[in-house]
Amino acid sequence: MRIAMIGTGYVGLVSGACFSDFGHDVVCVDKDARKIELLHQNVMPIYEPGLAELVSSNVKAGRLSFTTDLVEGVKGADAVFIAVGTPSRRGDGHADLSYVFAAAEEIAGAVEGPTVIVTKSTVPVGTGDEVERIIARVAPDKGIKVVSNPEFLREGAAIEDFKRPDRVVVGSEDEAASDVLRGIYRPLSLNQSAPVMFTGRRTAELIKYAANAFLAVKITFINEIADLCEAVGADVQEVSRGIGMDNRIGRKFLNAGPGYGGSCFPKDTLALMKTADDHESPLRIVEATVQVNDSRKRAMGRKVIKAMGGDVRGKTVAILGLTFKPNTDDMRDAPSIAVIQTLQDAGAVVKAYDPEGVEQASKMLSDVEFSKNPYAAAEGADALVIVTEWDEFRALDLGRMKGLLNRPLLVDLRNIYPSDEVRSAGFELVGIGKGR
Ligand code: UGA
Repeated sequence: MRIAMIGTGYVGLVSGACFSDFGHDVVCVDKDARKIELLHQNVMPIYEPGLAELVSSNVKAGRLSFTTDLVEGVKGADAVFIAVGTPSRRGDGHADLSYVFAAAEEIAGAVEGPTVIVTKSTVPVGTGDEVERIIARVAPDKGIKVVSNPEFLREGAAIEDFKRPDRVVVGSEDEAASDVLRGIYRPLSLNQSAPVMFTGRRTAELIKYAANAFLAVKITFINEIADLCEAVGADVQEVSRGIGMDNRIGRKFLNAGPGYGGSCFPKDTLALMKTADDHESPLRIVEATVQVNDSRKRAMGRKVIKAMGGDVRGKTVAILGLTFKPNTDDMRDAPSIAVIQTLQDAGAVVKAYDPEGVEQASKMLSDVEFSKNPYAAAEGADALVIVTEWDEFRALDLGRMKGLLNRPLLVDLRNIYPSDEVRSAGFELVGIGKGR
């Protein structure tokens, strides 16, 4: 199959590289000439484990290429995927679809004959219909069909998620277009039993938002249970284990923490709420989730202050982990930002270490001293705070840390350290939802 991928952001680049690895012939198109130039040199615009290797091997095999020329890129394509950004529109939280519509218009003008335009970007319900209207205006006679194929990959585990998905969702109103998608995903159904679910286009669009909102609710639920655990003397990790063993609930996404962040949950929950409002069908549970999660991030800063005795003026706090989650350099809506600002507002001095996030973090945070490693961050600090659970924080030399810190206090906002290990190393430990 011949595929064009418009947009080389997270979703576009990972999907393009993985499709080419399936054996398809893929051209990735982006307007950003600098990005394309870097990709020609095998420099990835994002940090994602395994991506550079995957791109380079498929480029070498002649199945993957990059261009800024959309007309050239879509030539002869069986399917053209739109994977451009859908950021929150300033002011009202609606998804900004201007990039999607502009891409649709350009593609419709450029393709020469029948093709399938597939929206992979996260787009609100009804966007496929709007894309169809654009095509009817620009190229009514080319036989272009519009399909929705939302993406469920996670940053940091993107390749694995793409190649071994729980499911693939395709929303299509046309049998011939469905067949094209069947062909594209055939390698998945051949190698394993990843179900490809065919449904209506609007339903597929909603599945994407409903999935992200449900996961955001699940995380927020366990975060509030964690607070209750602290109040009543229970242990949230045990509660998660106890409820997660019920298959109807499931074990995943029950890790209590400082609140969810990233480029998806915050943006998609807002966009879903807007859609719900527009249709006078409010989603109160999602509204509550968004509010609870927003206030939680600063509350985590206050939790650190409380653990340090209530007054942090002139005290130093060492933050380990800045990105919204491990294995990414993404700082969007990262809880670390609110935690650090709350500490700074209260007069604390902040030192921080992150394996990949410092470049982005330094653009978003001021007056933070970025350290070269966890030990340099801890030197002279009055508390060590784990905000993001990078693997390299799981095996810190606690004896060495103790010698470097002013006060051996560990605030573990991800519960990665067992309390007996930390306490026997001579630390005071404050975790999340650890009422006992
Ligand atoms: C999320 C979804 O998991 C993907 O399925 C989806 O494709 C993607 O959004 C998207 O819409 O593009 P992502 O934002 O990369 O993926 O990251 P997640 O692993 O879902 O984590 C999101 C946030 O939830 C992080 O801040 C993480 O720390 C937090 N989280 C996650 C918890 O606090 N506890 C958990 O148990 C799990």
